[in-house]
Amino acid sequence: MSKLSSAAELKRFRQDVLSRRDPNKPCLSICLGTGCQACGGEKVYQAFAGEIRKQGLEAKVDIRRTGCHGFCERGPLVVIFPREICYLKVTPADVPEVVAKTLVEGKIVDRLLYTGEDGKKIVHEGDIPFYKHQSRIILGANRLVDPTRIEDYIALGGYSALARALFVMTPEEVLDEVKKSGLRGRGGAGFPTGVKWETTRNAPGEPKYVIVNADEGDPGAYMNRSVLEGNPHSVIEGLIIGAYAIGARQGFIYVRQEYPLAVANLTVALEQAREMGLLGANILGSEFGFDVAIHRGAGAFVSGESSALITALEGRVGEPQINYIRPAISGLWGKPTNMNNVETWANVPAIINKSAAWFSGIGTRGSKGTKIFSLVGKVNNTGLVEVPMGATLRQVIFDIGGGVPGGKKFKAVQTGGPSGGCLPAASLDLPVDFEELERAGSMMGSGGMIVMDEDTCMVDTARYFINFLSEESCGKCVPCREGLKQMLLIYNNICAGKGREGDIELLREIAEVMAEASLCALGTTAANPPLSTIKYFRNEYEAHIREKRCPAGVCKDLIRYYIVPEKCQACLLCAKSCPAGAISGDKGLVHVIDQSKCTKCGACLEACPSRFGAVTKISGKPAPAPVPAGTRVQKRK
Ligand SMILES: Cc1cc2nc3c(=O)[nH]c(=O)nc-3n(C[C@H](O)[C@H](O)[C@H](O)COP(=O)(O)O)c2cc1C
Ligand code: SF4
Ligand code: SF4
Ligand code: FES
Repeated sequence: MSKLSSAAELKRFRQDVLSRRDPNKPCLSICLGTGCQACGGEKVYQAFAGEIRKQGLEAKVDIRRTGCHGFCERGPLVVIFPREICYLKVTPADVPEVVAKTLVEGKIVDRLLYTGEDGKKIVHEGDIPFYKHQSRIILGANRLVDPTRIEDYIALGGYSALARALFVMTPEEVLDEVKKSGLRGRGGAGFPTGVKWETTRNAPGEPKYVIVNADEGDPGAYMNRSVLEGNPHSVIEGLIIGAYAIGARQGFIYVRQEYPLAVANLTVALEQAREMGLLGANILGSEFGFDVAIHRGAGAFVSGESSALITALEGRVGEPQINYIRPAISGLWGKPTNMNNVETWANVPAIINKSAAWFSGIGTRGSKGTKIFSLVGKVNNTGLVEVPMGATLRQVIFDIGGGVPGGKKFKAVQTGGPSGGCLPAASLDLPVDFEELERAGSMMGSGGMIVMDEDTCMVDTARYFINFLSEESCGKCVPCREGLKQMLLIYNNICAGKGREGDIELLREIAEVMAEASLCALGTTAANPPLSTIKYFRNEYEAHIREKRCPAGVCKDLIRYYIVPEKCQACLLCAKSCPAGAISGDKGLVHVIDQSKCTKCGACLEACPSRFGAVTKISGKPAPAPVPAGTRVQKRK
């Protein structure tokens, strides 16, 4: 690869790449994001490569390794361009048929297509409801680029925003454009990006630094990983443009160690950008020079907090600092530092290319552009979803996510990661933006979205998140360290049937103090799970505390499994499934659970055929006394 030393050379390079490509030539875009790799994507890729070779089709078909397409639940995914035929859950065994039928004969392999609610097969990716209702400004390119080939990114117009910024705009104009776009940080707090850039630019002190926060500690979220794995140049280009606007010469990408593919693809992307003169001294022949180093983080959730991350970059323990002084004024090694989330940086090239007016035309009054959510939990279509700010929760969960599986009722959705709030069905028409989520008692956070169905206990859910946060708290400040510990004790008691009158008020009081007095946002936002679940699901708390009953039948200490004698068909299925040997019974004899042996694993409930429905879960009252031994003869229906 030779160095590009002007905007014109970049343009010529792009034209050259495009001239060598035939837009009508079939191209297999095979997802090799972490999700698809986990379900055999690499074997599918190898099978296609082998079959194409075997059939002598190398000159007639292109094959591209890509990052995550978003619909991870149906992976491994294969999209065949230019027709955009989307095949789901492809296995190596399907490959010869796809090659023979689709690539050679132009026919569709029906069984690999998405089946709509009406039972009809959907051929084109864009017609699948999961994709149809999205606006994929950031994620859309993932299926079009091999992240290890910079020419793929450039072919899509990549680095043209950088060229425009460097040769057509002054740093102030770039800054102004980002300010006017209304872009707000995607890492949690939603701070206006242009304002932060301006503060760093105007802060006294040199050198200045820019940082990509790719810590992504929220266990349910993986949108940052997928952008870095699938389209690393979009983040790098945004970062170089930001550095130009701010006046930084050095950047860092802080990425967690647990993201090996992201690190590998980033490393290749940075090397290629350097080789092509897009990083280093005199970028594209301009006066501007800038370079980037990757720093691998140790993976603690709290290390994603800006001051903790900076401390970790400096080589110290990644703990939040007292930030009277913002990083924009005094950050890395005491120098003005601008940190943004991966998704924030990835928005920048699009804003410079398409204008602030275009960007600010998307979204709501206070929240512009799109947001990527990782939609997980009790939802049919799990995956990464990018929608305009202001899309409703219903649109995301039902139109895109396909609703709750198994005919169960939707109960709640938790937005914003472990310290987000849980919103009930009554909030489904809430437009999702920074303000609305906060008003409802939750937050945008990183964009995690966990859907819960009717079988979820909201008290246990709050307990789960408080447990996570108490383990992840760095312990530096008292309100967070002690507050989480005390809240966890109260939750454990409530879930164990030892809850007391006044516990709800105590939880609220602790949460409110933490929200006021904690040092960093881990502690201040930890109030969300308790406060939101108390606000929307107070009746469940009261049932646990007053009636020692778990309405969802989840809290083990509050439930019993019981076999209804009149319904038992003595089929032995439950007894065979019981790992504790707690079920006695025989052919013709009603089965009985020995409560002292039962570990409440629920296997018997699952094993009992639904047409019998003999195994039940009881909460809030003791299990009826077992049928006396002499009267257990089962009466067949
Ligand atoms: C406990 C904690 C963890 C955080 N983790 C992340 C993270 O993984 N990624 C991220 O971008 N921001 C994270 N943040 C937010 C950062 O402190 C900071 O606000 C953000 O990186 C700024 O970028 P933005 O303006 O683009 O959102 C975290 C904050 C807290 C309190
Ligand atoms: S709020 Fe929690 S995580 Fe943040 S500094 Fe205090 S103890 Fe550490
Ligand atoms: S809940 Fe589990 S341990 Fe208890 S009786 Fe059923 S299968 Fe056995
Ligand atoms: S990893 Fe393949 S679709 Fe997400």
